[in-house]
Order: sequence, then structure tokens, then C-alpha cells
Amino acid sequence: MLFNKSIQRLQETLIRFDGKISLAFSHQIEDVITIDLLIKTGIKNIEFFTLNTHKLFKESLEYQSIIEDFFNINIKSYSPTKKSLQIIDETIGEFGMRESLEKRKQCCYERKIVPLKDALKNSKAWISGIRIAQSVTRVDTKLLEFDKQFGIYKINPLFDWSDEQVWEYTKNYSLPINKLYEKGFKSIGCTPCTRAVKEGEDIRAGRWWWENPNHKECGLHSH
Ligand code: ADX
Ligand code: SF4
Repeated sequence: MLFNKSIQRLQETLIRFDGKISLAFSHQIEDVITIDLLIKTGIKNIEFFTLNTHKLFKESLEYQSIIEDFFNINIKSYSPTKKSLQIIDETIGEFGMRESLEKRKQCCYERKIVPLKDALKNSKAWISGIRIAQSVTRVDTKLLEFDKQFGIYKINPLFDWSDEQVWEYTKNYSLPINKLYEKGFKSIGCTPCTRAVKEGEDIRAGRWWWENPNHKECGLHSH
């Protein structure tokens, strides 16, 4: 069964790394399932972190506390630097990311990539919740891949999970969910760039909804 297989293969992958491994928590269900699988492996050298872009939904911040209590873990926040915030103020402003792909990528770079580089300092590998089924941009996702951008390995424990399997696991193990899912969100990011979707729409249709699906990546995951 996929769930047991996922714990076993995650364990086999993690023991290859000696040193700190960082798990990225994005306030979405995939990362909570990954934390749950990870705890079941019994492996302990993991640092949990989130990228607090300063543009997160209040529901996501509440959810972070719920998850910390649920698993009795601490999730460390990494935020944009003063310099990054100044660049954003001067070149993008509140909604300038909707004006061009260039501005949007610049905002993602300053709010997410710069803090991510900091979060991954001294890590041997990082763990992400990306799945092949999420997007055309993620079809070549593997369990273990070398992440050239950050110069370390990336582990994607749910790479082959379907949407149905994600929700089945969540229900089976009574995992807490972000309230935004109950409000029609199917993928969750920053407030200016994420909205609820209609029934039948693609799960990432509410992310950067003004953009072509081939561009919908913030730069954390380059394939
Ligand atoms: S994004 O590139 O479009 O923003 P997505 O929201 O699908 O990514 O999340 C995929 C994975 O990227 C998450 O499972 C998590 O590993 C990582 N991630 C995305 N946003 C964040 C965040 N704010 N903090 C930490 N990790 C994140
Ligand atoms: Fe900026 Fe939107 Fe990217 Fe968040 S998702 S970092 S607000 S462009």
C-alpha cells in the first residue's frame, strides 16, 4: 500500500544523509502529511521551517500554531530582509506583481527565495511537499533529486501521490486542515496571489490566476 511504502522509502532516503535536514512547511496539507510520515520513520535530525513572506493569510498563521501543538514541534519562520522589503516597496508595491511576470518573479525571489537560502544554510537536504499531480510544471518530480539552485538534495516524499490519496490519508489519520480549504481554496500561498477556485477547476487555478499555467512557479522548485 502506498502509505506504508511512502514511510519506508522516506526512511531509506533520509538515512543516506548525515546532518541537518530541513522540512519546508507551507501551511498546506501535503506538508502536514509529510511531517506525519516523517515522525513515523522515527528519524530525528529534522528542522521544520516556514517562509513567512509577510503576505500570509491569517488562517495559515493560525494553522501553523495548530500544527506545532498537534505534533509538538517548533516551526522556525524565515522572513524577507529589510533590503528585500525596500526593493519590493520601490519596484512592485502592493499589487505590482500582477502587472508583469518579471515583477511577480522578483517579488517571489525577495519574499521566498532569499529567506529560503538562509533556511537551507548548513542543511544536507531539504524536504518538500510537491507532487507530480499538482501541475504541468511538476511532471518530472522525483523522490530524490539534486537541487542545483541550492546545491543540496531535495526529497519529495509525496511525489507520486494523487489528490485523492492526499485527502484519504488526511481523513484516515485525522490530521488538522487549514480552514482555507473549507472556503474553496485548493492550493494556498500569499494573499495577493491566491484565491478560492470553483468546483472542477484545476487545483492551482487560484494561484497567480492571471498567469499562464506554464509559468505558475515561484522559483522554489525549478524543474
Ligand atoms: S509554490 O512554488 O507554488 O509556492 P506550493 O505552494 O505548491 O509552491 O508548495 C509546494 C511546496 O513548496 C510545499 O510543500 C513546501 O515544501 C514549499 N513551500 C511553498 N511555499 C512555502 C512557504 N511559504 N514556506 C515553506 N515552504 C514552502
Ligand atoms: Fe509576492 Fe505573490 Fe510571490 Fe507572495 S506569491 S512572494 S506576494 S508574488
